Amino acid sequence: MENKIYEQVPQEEPQRQFYYMEKAKGYVNALAEKLGRRPTFCVTTFGCQMNARDSEKLTGILETIGYEAAENEEADFVIYNTCTVRENANNKVWGRLGYLSTYKKHHPHMKIALCGCMMQEPEVIEKLRKSYRFVDLIFGTHNIYKFAELIVATFEQKGMVIDIWKDTDKIVEDLPVDRKYSFKSGVNIMFGCNNFCSYCIVPYVRGRERSRKPQDIIREIEHLVADGVVEIMLLGQNVNSYGKNLDTPVTFAELLQEVEKIEGLERIRFMTSHPKDLSDELIEVMGKSKKICKHLHLPLQSGSSRILKEMNRHYNKEQYLTLVDKIRKAVPDIALTTDIIVGFPGETEEDFLETMDVVKRVRYDSAFTFIYSKRTGTPAASIKEQVPEDVVKDRFDRLLKEVQADAAERAQALTGRTESVLVEEVNEQDNHLVTGRLSNNFIVHFPGTKDLVGKIINVKLKECKGFYFYGEIVE
Ligand code: 5AD
Ligand code: SF4
Repeated sequence: MENKIYEQVPQEEPQRQFYYMEKAKGYVNALAEKLGRRPTFCVTTFGCQMNARDSEKLTGILETIGYEAAENEEADFVIYNTCTVRENANNKVWGRLGYLSTYKKHHPHMKIALCGCMMQEPEVIEKLRKSYRFVDLIFGTHNIYKFAELIVATFEQKGMVIDIWKDTDKIVEDLPVDRKYSFKSGVNIMFGCNNFCSYCIVPYVRGRERSRKPQDIIREIEHLVADGVVEIMLLGQNVNSYGKNLDTPVTFAELLQEVEKIEGLERIRFMTSHPKDLSDELIEVMGKSKKICKHLHLPLQSGSSRILKEMNRHYNKEQYLTLVDKIRKAVPDIALTTDIIVGFPGETEEDFLETMDVVKRVRYDSAFTFIYSKRTGTPAASIKEQVPEDVVKDRFDRLLKEVQADAAERAQALTGRTESVLVEEVNEQDNHLVTGRLSNNFIVHFPGTKDLVGKIINVKLKECKGFYFYGEIVE
């Protein structure tokens, strides 16, 4: 009997995974009988929007095979979708694994799975193999679509199941997804990164750049819209180089124009843009678009041309500033946000002042500031001159102060305006309020009820609170 089923395992994807989902259902039902209730799961996401989207895919599969969502990590199946972009992302995972191991001692039937970027690092796998034997399943970023098959393996095999691929050219579509929000969704348009910025581990853990075909992306968005989605976020490590390696090359600007035509879709966002690949064509499309949100995340990383060269970013300070001017001219109301790294090896006070200069000139609406974190295997990790910790801390504080003052000033300037807002949720602290997002990504809280969630309405921005507003509905 077992052999007969085995002979029928489809080789093609996604059919193979649907076969394993059926098989997993059997095991999960048996577990439910033993427990006298449905078994529960908890997916914890670390890191970026890409990981958040991946977690929705994991959740989709878990629900399909019969697990129920738990409120917290006291669940029958806990999954950590990890990040490794900075050392503290890894530390969080190691810390929480400690707690999980204690919990598992009292709940031996519990399963623990680890996946995501951190699992693509060989040293991490070594450490897990040696000292974290209580983990049941480890997989990486390239084979996440195999989750159902791997779950079945944990029911059928003894010991840790480990499946990590170095890279892949495969994109598997059409597996179940459970969206966190009914009215908005991320949509992957590409995977991986080819840029090799010298500090960054992403190209090593997410592999080479692969774009999805435009027709697959459009079809997915059409389905999402039919299912109630009004806002999408196109996701890629470097969306501006989308489509270059397709059999029939397509530019990101061309893709956006196709997405714009989808009826019923109201708002389009995208993440992340690399300044070196941001084309005039894209700026023009953004200027004309009715649906692309007035927000551009444009990572600066450093304002010093010398450091930018060391970072392998392929633009200098002047080129970045020129680009900002062009964008502001074409899309006057646009909000600009950025990522900045402080303390890159060899960064001098002079270099840092160049960064401050760009920040002061651009006046970002918001900025994520990071302390440089040494990532093993990246070129920057072997640069000797590390910046002393106290110097980095001092620069970081100065930068943060400037960034916060600019953001508050930019927000203040919007006070009194009426803006269209997508209502996202009932306010957690005060349930008389709802929370929504403006096209430019600012947040506003205003009196309203649950039935407004998912709707786009006009809201007057009455009071600025630094990074967010209080407002009221305009009928
Ligand atoms: N150290 C600090 N910040 C980093 N980032 C990427 N790698 C590192 C690193 N090694 C930041 C960059 C990137 C963001 C997602 O994380 O600013 O844009
Ligand atoms: Fe990392 Fe640079 Fe790729 Fe962004 S573009 S993921 S910073 S290598």
